[in-house]
Amino acid sequence: MVLSDGHFSVAGGTPVLCSTGDGDCAWIAGYLTKLVKQTRGLSLVPQDGDTSAPPHRGIVLRRLDDPKATGDEGYRLDVTRDGIVVSAGTRAGLFYGCVTLWELLTQTEGRALSVDVADMQITDEPRFTWRGLMLDSVRHFQSPAFIKSFIDAMALHKLNVLQWHLTDDQGWRIEIKKYPRLTSVGAWRVPAGAGAAADIDQATGKPRLYGGFYAQDEIREIVAYAQRRNITIVPEIEMPGHALAAIVAYPQLGSVKNPPKQVSSDWGVFPYLYNVDDSTFDFLENVLTEVMALFPSHYIHVGGDEAVKDQWKASPKIQAQMHALDIKNEDALQGYFTARIGKFLAAHGRRLIGWDEILEGGVPPDATITSWRGIDGAITAAKTGHDAVLSPAPTLYFDNRQAEGPDEPPGRGAIVSLKDVYDFNPVPASLTPEQQAHIIGLQGNIWTEHIRQQDLVDYAAFPRAAALAELAWSPAGTHNWQSFLARLPAQLGRYRALGITHSESALAVRVSAQYERAAHSATVSLSNQADFGVIHYTVDGAQPTANSPLYKAPLTLPLPSKITTAAFVGGTALTTPTAKDITVLSLLSRDSHDLTLCTKNIPLSLEDDAPVNGPRAVFLVDIMNPCWIYPHVDLTGLASIEAGVGQVPFNFQVGDDIHKIALLPPQTPDGELEVHLDTCTGPRIAVLPLAPAVGNDAITTLRATLTPQQGVHDLCFVFTRRSIDPIWAIDWVQLVPERE
Ligand code: ACM
Repeated sequence: MVLSDGHFSVAGGTPVLCSTGDGDCAWIAGYLTKLVKQTRGLSLVPQDGDTSAPPHRGIVLRRLDDPKATGDEGYRLDVTRDGIVVSAGTRAGLFYGCVTLWELLTQTEGRALSVDVADMQITDEPRFTWRGLMLDSVRHFQSPAFIKSFIDAMALHKLNVLQWHLTDDQGWRIEIKKYPRLTSVGAWRVPAGAGAAADIDQATGKPRLYGGFYAQDEIREIVAYAQRRNITIVPEIEMPGHALAAIVAYPQLGSVKNPPKQVSSDWGVFPYLYNVDDSTFDFLENVLTEVMALFPSHYIHVGGDEAVKDQWKASPKIQAQMHALDIKNEDALQGYFTARIGKFLAAHGRRLIGWDEILEGGVPPDATITSWRGIDGAITAAKTGHDAVLSPAPTLYFDNRQAEGPDEPPGRGAIVSLKDVYDFNPVPASLTPEQQAHIIGLQGNIWTEHIRQQDLVDYAAFPRAAALAELAWSPAGTHNWQSFLARLPAQLGRYRALGITHSESALAVRVSAQYERAAHSATVSLSNQADFGVIHYTVDGAQPTANSPLYKAPLTLPLPSKITTAAFVGGTALTTPTAKDITVLSLLSRDSHDLTLCTKNIPLSLEDDAPVNGPRAVFLVDIMNPCWIYPHVDLTGLASIEAGVGQVPFNFQVGDDIHKIALLPPQTPDGELEVHLDTCTGPRIAVLPLAPAVGNDAITTLRATLTPQQGVHDLCFVFTRRSIDPIWAIDWVQLVPERE
């Protein structure tokens, strides 16, 4: 980008010129016009005419005769006093030039009568060809309208691949005309837990089913919608594992005699694999034939992850087939499986892509790998001549929460901040330049076990997808976190203007308050995750402005107090303010997300299964060892303890790890929440029987007196229970002082 003096003012009535008869250009001009109207309130005016002439007080979208002039997806953008020219050799380039122009028109937020665009010349094209997100529409289902809105949001980031996870153990979500039971049976399940079991559907007299699927007409519409926005939808049809929904629908596809008769609502890794009969390959090929007819994508994703081979090992028939095919072991059998499907796809002009496990059994030379178990899969792939997409857990798993604290929605519990994503290195140092050329791009994955509400898919994605998009598009030399941060407020403003749900976690002010018992006051620290901007606050309940007191160092506040605070840049608040009442009780209470877990395992931020309708609690819990520590609390003068507790179903397939879950024997039939001093095996200083909570699927408040203590201690909270199911979990704990 080269900046010059001067500017061009875009205003209501500014024309957007396309060459007469260029329908693609006219669509792009309409798209730009709609975006500018939504975000700025300005009405541009699409027009037809001669785009080869210099601009005359307007915007010209110019097609270059040479389709290679700006690369497959690149463009040039020239701003002079006379107007703006976006030029490109391809439709994709013209589209992206207009997205950049829209970004230039939305550097600040709000409606305007005109926007000045500085004179400049931009020559731009992407670093990587695969700039993707993966959306899991199985674990939770999103409406076709949502999928379109998600595609719209992706396009604004110049992302160009949506890997659409359509089949898995918990559901089959794509209509296949030849096999109607895939969706009539395979698309529906009873959600886990007592609440769902008691939620009777009047029409059937049975528990209400959860599910849904995309009809072929809907898929065609979505694919066309994506294509217009330069997004390729890569369908993912999982095999040989993650196949339970299909096997429930058609049991003859499975590797055991009596597979489950209902689609499961458990998460995790199931043992059910497709068998290797010719009739099963016929089934898969027939499915893929319909899939290929719907999705023009060159790549077809066939999953391949987490195919636990126990059922193949245990099946005499499959062992005999392996022997007859001279296949040495079950990994190699997966290799045979993948190769056979790869050959079928290649015969139809398509290319196979799979999760990195497919490397283990040997893969066809042109197979592409999605590296998710770290970047090792991509390294192995690149070193053996395969193309690879980097989407390593946890950094590019956008279902991980983005910040600590109780305000984040449910998700996997590793914290993957915006900066973590931005600082991901897409070129593993151990690869030579030729090997690095096999890294075709990056992908953020949004699994939805813990994302029940579709607008929270957007929350998980944005703005982390903006960080991913910049990594995937911009040259390595421009990587600069401070520059990204400086541009982030404008991006959040665009999300607000377009109604895109997004996270403010990087910039929102976090209030942390420490009780000073002797002084009857609180020490209050303010910060934001990105350490960006300056923080202003009020203590009179008013909204903070740039004229409110500036935060410089921890504050001492009397009790009770109310603090309202936000970070500012250039006098503008970066997020909605954080408001917090600070009282003796609030200082002695902790949400589960503010407690320390007893283990180093990665926890889940797990949503309660109840109530069926309405807001649900979210617990930070290690499902393998539900145990929390309230660290470093002065127990002097505390009389009792209250805890909000809930129960969630243990709907996790954890294989043999189930034996690692320890159960502490209860004292009473329903079990207890025990509070131990200093360590989890230390003296028991309070016991809260669970009996009152047993019949309540939502949160129950339990109370108990504390054996009096002096001084500062850790408290450990553990549940006694007879069974791993349900998991008892703490929502919050409250220490209560003696009456003063
Ligand atoms: C995966 O997360 N199983 C690809």
